[in-house]
Amino acid sequence: MSNYHIKHFEEYYHIYRKSINNPEGFWEELAEEHFVWHKKWDNILSWNFETPEVKWFEGAKLNVAENCIDRHLRTRANKTAILFEPNDPNEPVQHITYQELYNRVCKMANVLKQQGIKKGDRVCIYLPMIPELAVSLLACARIGAIHSVVFAGFSSSALEARINDSSSKIVITSDKSYRGSKTINIKEIVDDALKKCDSVEKVLVVQRVDGQVEMQQGRDLWLQPLLDEAEADCPIEIMDAEDPLFILYTSGSTGKPKGMVHTSAGYMVYTAYTFKNIFQYKENDIFWCTADIGWITGHSYIVYGPLANGATTVLFEGVPSYPDFGRFWETIEKHKVSIFYTAPTAIRSLAKESLEYVEKYDLSSLKVLGSVGEPINEEAWHWYNDNIGKKHSPIVDTWWQTETGGILISPIPFVTPTKPTYATLPFIGVQPALMDDEGNELKGNQVDGKLCIKFPWPGIARTIWGDHERYKETYFSTYKGKYFTGDGAFRDEVGYYRITGRVDDVIIVSGHNLTTAPIEDAINEHPAVAESAIVGFEHNIKGNALYGFVMLKETGEYRNQDNLRKEINQQISDKIGPIAKLDKIQFVEGLPKTRSGKIMRRILRKIANNDLSNLGDTSTLLNPEIVDSIINDVL
Ligand code: WT7
Repeated sequence: MSNYHIKHFEEYYHIYRKSINNPEGFWEELAEEHFVWHKKWDNILSWNFETPEVKWFEGAKLNVAENCIDRHLRTRANKTAILFEPNDPNEPVQHITYQELYNRVCKMANVLKQQGIKKGDRVCIYLPMIPELAVSLLACARIGAIHSVVFAGFSSSALEARINDSSSKIVITSDKSYRGSKTINIKEIVDDALKKCDSVEKVLVVQRVDGQVEMQQGRDLWLQPLLDEAEADCPIEIMDAEDPLFILYTSGSTGKPKGMVHTSAGYMVYTAYTFKNIFQYKENDIFWCTADIGWITGHSYIVYGPLANGATTVLFEGVPSYPDFGRFWETIEKHKVSIFYTAPTAIRSLAKESLEYVEKYDLSSLKVLGSVGEPINEEAWHWYNDNIGKKHSPIVDTWWQTETGGILISPIPFVTPTKPTYATLPFIGVQPALMDDEGNELKGNQVDGKLCIKFPWPGIARTIWGDHERYKETYFSTYKGKYFTGDGAFRDEVGYYRITGRVDDVIIVSGHNLTTAPIEDAINEHPAVAESAIVGFEHNIKGNALYGFVMLKETGEYRNQDNLRKEINQQISDKIGPIAKLDKIQFVEGLPKTRSGKIMRRILRKIANNDLSNLGDTSTLLNPEIVDSIINDVL
């Protein structure tokens, strides 16, 4: 029996037990058999969730890019590694073979070296979904540079904060980017961000559109001529198991984003193993994950997990609505995609369009469907199951986080019976716990609590870049000795988990993890605003949308209120990015506060969701009268 590939439920159960009873032995065997090492580990695992510290495969030497590319050249040199589907369906697709990927990554790695990048240096990547994006990640991994990808939909000030926090030496970007029918001037955003970034020495620019951008002499270089000159061979840098592979920022509850640090060996082993099993990947599958590489989903399941398995991974530059709402289904037919991984928000937005967009295409290549990013509601689950999977492709509802590196709770298709809205069972090696508010672990089934993980898995982030204390505070201090996820969950009568949503101040909008505090900070910087509070409200496409309660410095009529709403949203867009814009803005006379001065978001959340039946006791508020006035003016 191969532990690497789980084929039926008894096997899952057996391997799961083994991975819990003897985690070291389990992961050692797996790592030994399925990856290339330059030196084996001295110690499989050392950990302490109080300091907190986690080390996997300590002492081992390896290179992640070698595991994703070089080792496949012997048997898969001419197999497509990356299948690039451009924004415009009429532009030719690119089939980048493993051999070509090797050459392109080596050239990029040599360019980075020429520009002074060494092991441990940070490289910021701000690119649209084009092959150079994946190539840049792998080039960094090849030479031991730490990549920090910033989603190219983020604003210049969000980019600036991430470049400064990681003190990146180089930024890799493009002139412009295509997004549906729009063209976006990416380079201008970078130029703007760099006004306040002293660490950046060079900007390497890919020409994706027309090249009509300003280049700053001495700082900005077109990438293509450098690649043309570079050699197509570049030796790997041999890395320690615990050397950082990348930093990826996730929102934090204060204005500062958290740079989650993922290291080399554990992350590689975990993403490869989860990819293989949770998608039941087989050699000739065509795998398509529709996420952007700017998010962890793209890092783990467009780049590292698939390539570590020698798979063909689709890189899609476009959007689901361009040129029409059939784009996903057209692309599945065109490339005979067999495994399709997307987000509930995308499913909901396509489900509201005519079924003709789906029926036009042959989806018979599909075998497995995946969902990620937020709880998938029952209606969307059935639409996906009936119309896309035709009731024979199991849906894997995969629960995980930027911090976890890979999927932690999910069915295994054809192995775990699925149940709509349930992420079902912990993956191999994962030990979940549900906690009550007093900090006790809830035993047994049919319980609802805060979701924690009790034991390290290889893919867990090791720290927050430059702020280990914050890492400890955020994840390991709510429940002593446990990793706290920030999510609530229910465990049903058979032990299946259903993720019920965030229990902290994070709101998931269209699958994007947004923290309220930095958005409120952005609003409060508007000269007319005194104070604000943001809550989520249910939205049938986005899952949640943002509702802002805003108190102005001068109450009463203040200019044209719609203009002010636009200005506030513009401010958010500039500071954070368009994804954080508010759907509703209500101007209020005051915000409900506790006697200690804390805004009572619980009440605002109910008001925003039009759930006025049970507002709870408002008499303890400092200003109970304000609640009625807010309800009267509700939008
Ligand atoms: C948060 C993490 C991990 C990839 C994308 C998001 C929510 C994620 C599910 C799911 C219910 C989910 C959680 C989690 N979430 N997947 N299948 N069911 N909720 O990564 O931005 O770090 O967000 O997304 O609330 O904590 P992220």
